[in-house]
Amino acid sequence: MKILVVGSGAREHALAFHLAAVDREEVLVAPGNPCMEGFARVSPGVSLVADVVALARSERPDLVLSGPEGPLVEGLADALGAAGIPCLGPGREAARLEGSKGFARAFMARHGVPSPAFEVVTDLHAARRFLDAHPTALVVKCDGLAAGKGVAVCDSPEEALAAAEAMLRGRFGDAGQRVVLEERLRGPEVSFHVLASGARFKVLGSAQDHKRLLDGDQGPNTGGMGAYAPVPLVTPALEREILDSVVRPTLQGMIDEGTPFQGILFVGLMLVDGRPKVLEYNVRFGDPECAVLLARLGPGLSRALLDAARGALDDAPLSHSSGAALGVVLAAEGYPDKPLQGAALPGLSTPPPEGVRVHPAGVRRDPSGRLVAAGGRVLLVVGTGPDLTVARQRAYQHLPAVAFPGCRYRTDIGWQVLAGM
Ligand code: AMP
Ligand code: GLY
Repeated sequence: MKILVVGSGAREHALAFHLAAVDREEVLVAPGNPCMEGFARVSPGVSLVADVVALARSERPDLVLSGPEGPLVEGLADALGAAGIPCLGPGREAARLEGSKGFARAFMARHGVPSPAFEVVTDLHAARRFLDAHPTALVVKCDGLAAGKGVAVCDSPEEALAAAEAMLRGRFGDAGQRVVLEERLRGPEVSFHVLASGARFKVLGSAQDHKRLLDGDQGPNTGGMGAYAPVPLVTPALEREILDSVVRPTLQGMIDEGTPFQGILFVGLMLVDGRPKVLEYNVRFGDPECAVLLARLGPGLSRALLDAARGALDDAPLSHSSGAALGVVLAAEGYPDKPLQGAALPGLSTPPPEGVRVHPAGVRRDPSGRLVAAGGRVLLVVGTGPDLTVARQRAYQHLPAVAFPGCRYRTDIGWQVLAGM
């Protein structure tokens, strides 16, 4: 099979690597990054939806797969469908599950998917009224996509009102024209992933992300500083509950509303007193979750992705290893506000030892051909092993070999499980 992967981060590096090395497919990546050249054909500069569609029209891949949500929300799958090219991922309408938080919350309410109390507002007056009536409504979200920055988790109603005001006044442009106010939930978070097509799905697994920049879950929110899989909190009984109370009603609801979902459904859950409540839907893999989920998968993913895109997914489960994977992000100095670019990355020329994979994300070649840091999250180092303790040890042992000047990373990825061991 020939598969075109859209994106350039650690998630897309992990996907392209898995499809090439484990499933032995021919892989193209657009725009990709230079560290994908060893196993994929990279098309730098091809990132706009129209350019991706043009590339797909000339290459005629068997399947196109988008790492990020942006192209799907913009209609990549619709445009490829019109060109007769299968794309894994929803069309523009079904992508509203991620593209509009207000749509997603109203959808959950229509279909009985467990979620917090919420209200969608378009003016400050309505925001004040809801916040006054709901003292636990402390989470404020832009309705539209805001590069992961449009969510404020507040500690007081005053702070929540100020956040809503900033969004409504245009701090995030159009994304904040509508604002979602919701009850603040408390509990551990789980990123639950399935590959879905209509009412059918295959479980990809659960992972736990670490969104805060600093150890002990302190500091600002980021795209994610590390992840591990599987999540021991997600017992077989809890997984059944997640499938019955969240995944099945979501997929059936999409069918009932005339927009069947096809693609990766990543449900962000909070376990409140051990019961799942939905924080958000995503219509693609999480990053860094993707790499730790894929590290536990055996061959057969590419076939399942193509079947899902064609509406022909079967019931056979994907093959998972019994082991664990844990990934640590190395981010550039200044991340997430003002990441510094240009640090040299000589450690990338040394192949990692057995049980370790490095997934470069924000990297480029400088004019002399050296690999340098070129983004916020620069590298993701994943350790695998029979259990999380070994996976963690392997990841952290390899960090000094790839660390670069000014890099920041958390030293406590996996703390929630390892504390209990
Ligand atoms: P989202 O992009 O909607 O997942 O929000 C980003 C992060 O904000 C989530 O991963 C949670 O840590 C936090 N968050 C979102 N919604 C809530 C909520 N209702 N209660 C508590 N925390 C939340
Ligand atoms: N790591 C969280 C996300 O990809 O949305």
